[in-house]
Amino acid sequence: DLGGYPHYMAKEIQEQPESVERIIRGRLDDRFGVARLDGLNLTPRELRGFARVKILGCGSAYYVGQIGATMIEELARIPADAEAASEFRYRNPIIEADTLYIAVSQSGETIDTAFAVEEIKRKGGRVVGLVNVVGSTIARACEGGVYLHAGPEIAVASTKALTNMAVGFALIALALGRVRDLSNADGQRIIDAVRALPGQIKAILDFEPEIAEHAKTVAAAKSLFFVGRVRGYPVAREGAQKFKEISYRHAEAYQTSELKHGPLALIDEALPTVAVVPSDELTERNLAAVQQIKARGGAVLAVTHADVDFGELDVPRIVVPKTEPELDPILLTIPLQLLAYHAALTLGYDIDKPRNLAKSVTVE
Ligand code: BG6
Repeated sequence: DLGGYPHYMAKEIQEQPESVERIIRGRLDDRFGVARLDGLNLTPRELRGFARVKILGCGSAYYVGQIGATMIEELARIPADAEAASEFRYRNPIIEADTLYIAVSQSGETIDTAFAVEEIKRKGGRVVGLVNVVGSTIARACEGGVYLHAGPEIAVASTKALTNMAVGFALIALALGRVRDLSNADGQRIIDAVRALPGQIKAILDFEPEIAEHAKTVAAAKSLFFVGRVRGYPVAREGAQKFKEISYRHAEAYQTSELKHGPLALIDEALPTVAVVPSDELTERNLAAVQQIKARGGAVLAVTHADVDFGELDVPRIVVPKTEPELDPILLTIPLQLLAYHAALTLGYDIDKPRNLAKSVTVE
């Protein structure tokens, strides 16, 4: 049921304030500044024992996994990284007893991710799931997990499930952090920020008409870059993914820091860049890169915060509400969903069922 929306993707984007409420409901513990995640089936001692975290997913779930890895490193200070499950399963991965493996999947049926889970279990590793569909193959195969409670997602391009994955990672990062050096006060700082997310998402969605205008401009380009740095890089990857999936434009994600080591050669009037420029400790570096792109005639659209000062730079902006820096990627990703949606709408493509793609790839 489209409920009056023109596409499932539009409906699912709009549902995000409520679906985020659902993943956090009953899981925030204000007394101890921690997340209660009983479904993980891990004791505090077990949580404390992990030396590393490895996150596995495919497509957008992999990119959100990268957002999650950064959150876990920042809040829990344990080495964490994300890898495409589709690669992991084929490369005879080294499974370590003191690594926490996290499988991320909306459907819980993606065969590459399911095989990665089996490979981890077969080699004696501990794997938990961050899954939306209750009782799905991956949810059942994992020894514990956090259900996303995003509700059914129909559009092939994932939106509300992805946002809940990112929020789920914030909760897991809290749980891992609070058995280590994250203080109660810092835990509380994150909890308060998590609670504010639904209202902030609503505020971003209110900018839809403005984002739709930006989308018309970027949709005119045959090819574009999405760039971000550290926290912003997986945001750029997911933004580019969504853009290519439904608008069929060549959209390439790059680390902002790597631009000058190669791809800057491609920048000209015909190749615009969507730049993720949060207000954080790297703002000046990001602005310097925007300046370099502009100096070569490239157009830039910035996804940024209100207090970032672009000075003389003539750069159209999508301004996102500020949260705690560790959580910024969650909100920075939302306008990129709308950008892709409106670009595809402008170009007249089938938004909910893009060519050559399936909602979940369950066969080899
Ligand atoms: C791909 C879909 O095949 O699977 C992507 O086209 C999706 O949109 C990816 O992100 C992973 O799916 P899931 O269900 O495992 O999260």
